Amino acid sequence: MKTYLVTGGFGFIGSNFIRHILNMRKNAAVINADKLTYAANPKNLPDYPEDYKFYKIDIADKLELAKIFNENRIDFVVNFAAESHVDRSIAAPGIFVKTNVEGTLNLLELSMKHNVEKFLQISTDEAYGSLGAAGKFSEETPLSPRSPYSASKASADMLAMSFFHTYGMPVLISRCSNNYGPYQFPEKLIPLAIINALNNKDIPLYGDGRNIRDWIYVDDHVDAICLVLEKGKTGEVYNIGGNSEAENADIIKFILDKLNKPSSLIKYVKDRPGHDRRYAMDFSKITSETGFMPAYGIEKGIEKTIDWYIKNENWWKEILSGNYKEYYKEMYENR
Ligand code: NAD
Ligand code: DAU
Repeated sequence: MKTYLVTGGFGFIGSNFIRHILNMRKNAAVINADKLTYAANPKNLPDYPEDYKFYKIDIADKLELAKIFNENRIDFVVNFAAESHVDRSIAAPGIFVKTNVEGTLNLLELSMKHNVEKFLQISTDEAYGSLGAAGKFSEETPLSPRSPYSASKASADMLAMSFFHTYGMPVLISRCSNNYGPYQFPEKLIPLAIINALNNKDIPLYGDGRNIRDWIYVDDHVDAICLVLEKGKTGEVYNIGGNSEAENADIIKFILDKLNKPSSLIKYVKDRPGHDRRYAMDFSKITSETGFMPAYGIEKGIEKTIDWYIKNENWWKEILSGNYKEYYKEMYENR
């Protein structure tokens, strides 16, 4: 039996990862360490009583975090916990440094002390900065983050790799492009556009709407993470991409078409400061070393995502109405 410490497991990608591990692997136990920020939702995960434990913990609080390592034998650490939204980092960068940098340092130190078998730092293509019309990010591209969010993630990556070089710790880093799919908090472009369209509300499109992202369906990211954990080499970085570059305006138009809504719902608004123009991933390294290929193209992935948001209206309506905060209190505050 291998035990995974998954941080940020009540967030979007972390919850999809935990569900996959518990459904697909008979010999795996999961510990979810989550601070339950606004972006977390316990309803992202059903209860798994036998092989699943939850700790409400801030990874920036080292004493609290140490309890998990003292009380459990941890084999793999997968660090998803982060403040993840670029716009929020522009408004208030401090918490991004606290969680994404200090929190990662705490995890690294405790993981080293307790001799974990592997430490996977979940990172982002945004650490590489912004591309022009041509070219792709490879693992050799120098880090050049341009927002407080991406600067905090690049810092965490460098700390993680320093633990490999300095202490020989078994660290790996994966850097992924823009995820979408079930359970994504509705502040991010795709769920925001789907929900606003369903509610006949304006969809804010930043600047000229022609910024490009490489979109990946969350299940593909989860598969890639499992492959990196199984087959990746320690001390290495692995890019993960979806092979699906698209302009923001085209993504929104596709969603509106699928929902039979008019393009008049698009509202061009002031641009995001420092808005990265284009991301694109060369992920040939993970493909050649592990066999990873994304299974979803953008159209199939978005159709599946729209379907999920239509069928799970209660999930997002509760978030929008703010009731989920009361739910947190009931479920976890007095534990
Ligand atoms: P999310 O915002 O949906 O979830 C983040 C989770 O981390 C939440 O459950 C939150 O409560 C938890 N958390 C935040 N601060 C914490 C702290 N101090 N201690 C413990 N838990 C804390 O994020 P996401 O979109 O699922 O992203 C997960 C990870 O993947 C992040 O590290 C992000 O940088 C990375 N990533 C995301 C994307 C993407 O497109 N969403 C792409 C590449 C990489
Ligand atoms: O590339 C990986 C990154 O993708 C992750 O590291 C981040 O955690 C994740 O939040 C995401 O960052 P982005 O800034 O690319 O995602 P977001 O959904 O905020 O924006 C996607 C694009 O859409 C971006 O060009 C900004 C634009 N946008 C976004 C919002 C929320 C709009 O035009 N209107 C909007 O309302």
